[in-house]
Formats: sequence, structure tokens, C-alpha cells
Amino acid sequence: MRNVIIQLAASLDDKITAEPVRRQLMNNGSNMPPAPSSPEAPTPSAADADQTRPKVKRILVVDDERVNLKVLSGFLQAFGHEVLAADSGFRALEMLDDSIDLILLDIMMPEMDGFTVAQAVRETPETAQTPIIMVTALSDRQDKLRAVQAGANDFISKPIDKTELKVRTESLLRMKASQDELKHYQQQLENMVKARTEALRRAMQNLAESQANILKAHIETILILSSAAEYKDNETAQHIKRMSWMASILAEELGMPQSEVELVHRASPMHDIGKIGVPDAILLKPGKLTPEEWVVMREHTTIGSRILENSTSDLLQAGSIIAMTHHEKWDGSGYPKGLAGEDIPLYGRISAVADVFDALTSKRPYKEAFSNEVALDIMAKGRGSHFDPAVYDAFLRRFEDFRSIQQQLADT
Ligand SMILES: [Fe+2]
Ligand SMILES: [Fe+2]
Repeated sequence: MRNVIIQLAASLDDKITAEPVRRQLMNNGSNMPPAPSSPEAPTPSAADADQTRPKVKRILVVDDERVNLKVLSGFLQAFGHEVLAADSGFRALEMLDDSIDLILLDIMMPEMDGFTVAQAVRETPETAQTPIIMVTALSDRQDKLRAVQAGANDFISKPIDKTELKVRTESLLRMKASQDELKHYQQQLENMVKARTEALRRAMQNLAESQANILKAHIETILILSSAAEYKDNETAQHIKRMSWMASILAEELGMPQSEVELVHRASPMHDIGKIGVPDAILLKPGKLTPEEWVVMREHTTIGSRILENSTSDLLQAGSIIAMTHHEKWDGSGYPKGLAGEDIPLYGRISAVADVFDALTSKRPYKEAFSNEVALDIMAKGRGSHFDPAVYDAFLRRFEDFRSIQQQLADT
């Protein structure tokens, strides 16, 4: 494209007009440094690097009459602008790009007239806002209207008056500069929004990861503390893991919301945490407990509940309820309060079924593990007396899941 312009510029016999056009075209888009005689014409990279330096305006002049092209180019260069010259509408469209600040467009041209060129400029997204001045000998109102409809911003009459040309070009160039500034500002704003959105997304992701880590640490702490109490009672860490999975399956089967299923899962390991407050002489006594010792032993429920009850955490609150009520029985014969039926919190009724079933089927120092069949027989006898019938029935419906928990978390 540059060759076309250079050839065209070279063919203009007026050296004053042609030489600056060529020199500026050579400077534009090439790696050549600006000619010493035109220090004000920066290379694109220099212009990019220093946006505060006034930008040389690029003006596309389109006219099929070479003499007009020469006159217009001469004037515009004298104003300090860079000029691209096209001697037809087709050449103008070839040379068109978003670096052009203004188009001076002759209307009456063969093959493609100024109306058609103006319309094409408007229909090209990169140049839709580029100002157009129609250069015309026409004074007919209809023609002017047509030119405006095609996209002209202003008119200038032939023969060209230098002062009028200066006034009209400067006015539209200022408008174009404002548009460019606005576009630049919008782009900066979009980039800033994009960067902030990305930063926010990363911050949210980090927050979610931190929260997940805190929750994980929280859960591990509970498991470790709970297993400390269980170890003291010769139970195992595997017992509390199995029991808590079994409790969560019952919660799910009973239709509790997922958040509560999770709460039951995470809180039920704390059911016997109060055993850390029971003397070893009672807790580890090989023989039968005396009635007085049973009174102390039963206190593990209230001790556990008191340890946990002052926390503001939902998890520890649920743990407190489970610690207090996991030995209550449906018929009111349990402890510590002898609650019956639905007076026993559901967390406690669920934990009772999971805890007893896993205790029955686990080996302890004082007993062998019962088979699932024997354990099921014992559990069946507790339906409606020891256990809430609804929880017991849920246990039977999900028995296959209990069996798979036993397999996956077997004592080692
Ligand atoms: Fe217990
Ligand atoms: Fe237990």
C-alpha cells in the first residue's frame, strides 16, 4: 500500500508537495529514524513511548483530480499534518485504517463516488467514527443531504480556501482527538476492571482455600481430641470414624438437609469426649461396676456436654447435644435425663443407633466382636424401646452402606 502512495506522491511534480509526503510516509511504519529536517515527526514506537508528545495527524485526501490532490496535500502539510493521497475511491478504501484521523473526500469521482466511499468508511468498524469532510463543487441541498446520510461530518467548497480548510480540519481533528482520548480512557477502564475482577477472583479463591484449610484443621482437632477420650476407654480411633459415617448415613436417610448431615458426621465423634473426666479406676475396671461407679460413669455425658456447650461453633454445639443425649432411650429408660421419644434431640437418637451397632460389632478387651447377624438381632429388640423406630428403620434400609463402612474402616 505504501508503494502506491509513494508512486503517487513521486508523480506529483511539485517538489514542495511531493517530498514531505514521501518523507513522512517513509518514516511512518518503517524502522527508519525521522528525517533530520522533520524532527517533529516521531516514529510510531517513539510516539507510543511518549504519549504526551503531540501526535502528528494523518489525513487521507481523496480526489481523482491530481491537481486538487496536490493543492490539498500542500495546504495540509503546511499545517503540519501527515498526508496520504488517494486518486480514486478504490485506492482510498485500500489505504483506509484506524490510524487515519481525518478524510477529505471529493464527491464527484468516476467508478466510485464520494458517497459510496463515505458509506464504506462508516460501515468499517475501525473507521466508523473517523471524521469525513466532503470536498465538493456541488451546492445542491439534496446532494449535501445525501452526503450527510452517507456519513459526512462537514463540507468544504471548491475552489479550496486555505483559511476555511484550516478551520474545518482543525475542528474535526479536535473532535477526533477527544474521541481517541475517550476510547483510550475506556480501554484503560476496561483493563482496570478486568485486572480488578481477576484479583477479586483470586482473593475469593484464596479465601475459599483458607476456609477449607481451617475447617480441615478444625475437624482434625476434633477427631484427635475425640480419639484421645476413646483411647482412654479402650475404644479405637476407627470406632469413632465408623460411627460418625454411620450416623451421617442415618441423617441422610432421614431426609436431613446436606448441611445437617455434614454436621452430624463432624460432631458425632465427640459423643464420648466426657470420658476424659471419668477416673481410670472406673473407666478401665475389668469387672462389673458398682451402682455408685455407674453413677460416675454416666457422668461422661454431662461432662462432655459441659466441655463443648459454651462454644459459639455450630459444630461444637451439635457435639454438646450428642454428648449429652447419645445414651438416652426412646422409652425414657436412658441417661442422664431419662428423656423419652422426640424429647430426645434427633442428633442423639441417630448417634445412639450408630454407636451401639458399631460397639456391638467391634472387638473390645472385655468382649469379642459380635457378628452382624447377632448384632442385628440385638438391635431389633431395641426398636421402640432403646431406639427411635424411625431411626432404626432407616438403619435397616441402609444396612448395605453400614456393611461397606465396616469393610473400609476395619480395625487393624
Ligand atoms: Fe457414651
Ligand atoms: Fe462410642
